[in-house]
Amino acid sequence: MKLAPSIYTADFANLGAQVKAAEDAGADWIHLDVMDGAFVPNLTFGAAVCAAVRKSTSLPCEAHLMVLDPDRFLRDYADAGMQRVIVHVEACDHLYSTIQAIRKHEMQVGISLNPLTSLDMAGDALPLVDLVLLMTVEPGYGGQSYIPLSTGRIKRMRAMLDAVGAKAELQVDGGVNTSTIREVRDAGASMAVVGSAVFTPKHSVAEGMAALRRALA
Ligand code: DX5
Ligand code: ZN
Repeated sequence: MKLAPSIYTADFANLGAQVKAAEDAGADWIHLDVMDGAFVPNLTFGAAVCAAVRKSTSLPCEAHLMVLDPDRFLRDYADAGMQRVIVHVEACDHLYSTIQAIRKHEMQVGISLNPLTSLDMAGDALPLVDLVLLMTVEPGYGGQSYIPLSTGRIKRMRAMLDAVGAKAELQVDGGVNTSTIREVRDAGASMAVVGSAVFTPKHSVAEGMAALRRALA
């Protein structure tokens, strides 16, 4: 299972070192939570921070755009060196065009659905994207608890992807930790975003990542 630490709960006063620690601890991607205060109630950071993080790691970086009308910003995240952007189907009025526009910027395409958004909202797009992200918390904050009904959604989405032979990554995001990571993997997720399970004052990044790997063994 691929792990993508989300820097949202990292120590922003030492962000470069925190990202390096995640890379040294075996992270597969770095996940960057961009929030606009409109699509979600919180405001985090933009392309400038993503560019700085990109420069501090050799890992691929994905920008999770929790923003309205993300088409406005695609060039900024391409210029920031993002290998992938993840847009919310709820925030895209013309999803087909948005997918094409991301491809034009030579980035991988991810689409995300909030915890109760119908999986059918992604249905016909599955063969067109590189990643489907099922939110397992309401987006906007780190450190929330996993929403249990998500497990059934992961199973259904896995079946939908397999039914069309889609190769897209099935990623989950929110409340994934040592108590929930086996459940999401066994339900069919191939990648997990991990925030407060890795970036927390309670333990080192290395200990957080090692505990997740042990939970998966
Ligand atoms: C929530 C973000 C998540 C969050 C994950 O809106 O998209 O990536 O930061 O944090 P944890 O793993 O602590 O739920
Ligand atoms: Zn995220």
